[in-house]
Amino acid sequence: AVERTLSIIKPNAVAKNAIGAILSRFEQAGLRIVAARMLHLSREQATAFYAVHRERPFFAELVEFMTSGPVTVQVLEGEGAIALHREVMGATDPAKAAPGTIRADFADSLTENAVHGSDSAETAAAEIAFFFPEGVCERTR
Ligand code: CMP
Repeated sequence: AVERTLSIIKPNAVAKNAIGAILSRFEQAGLRIVAARMLHLSREQATAFYAVHRERPFFAELVEFMTSGPVTVQVLEGEGAIALHREVMGATDPAKAAPGTIRADFADSLTENAVHGSDSAETAAAEIAFFFPEGVCERTR
C-alpha cells in the first residue's frame, strides 16, 4: 500500500551539508517528498517528540543532540514507505548499518545517527501530525 512516513535529517547531517545528498537517496529509492520544513527544535519539542524514550539512559544526550542545531523534517510517500525508508536509512546503530545506507555514510555515533524515521504506521501518523499539525496535501501530483 502507498504509505507516508516522517523523516528527520538530524543536526549532525545538516551541519555536514548533507541535506541534498540524503534527500536524493530517498528520491532515488522511489520515495517522494510531499511536505518539508526546517526548524531548530526547542527542548520542549525534542522532549515531546521522543517522549517514548524518556526513561531510557540515553534520553538526556538525545535531547541535547537534537536541540544542538537545525533539522529538516519531511514527509515521504511511496509504496511501503515506512519499511523502505528504514531500509535506506540503515540500522539505528551505524556500526551495524549496511554499506551504502545513509547511516553507514553520514552517522557519527549511535546518538548522532544522521536521520530518524517512523517505525510503524501508527507512529508515522502521530509523528506527521506532530510536525505538520496544519495537515499535508492529500494529492501532490
Ligand atoms: P532514532 O531513530 O531517532 O530514535 C531514537 C534515537 O535515540 C535514535 O535514533 C538515536 O539517535 C538515539 N539513541 C541513542 N542511544 C540509543 C540506544 N542505545 N538505542 C536506541 N537509540 C539510541
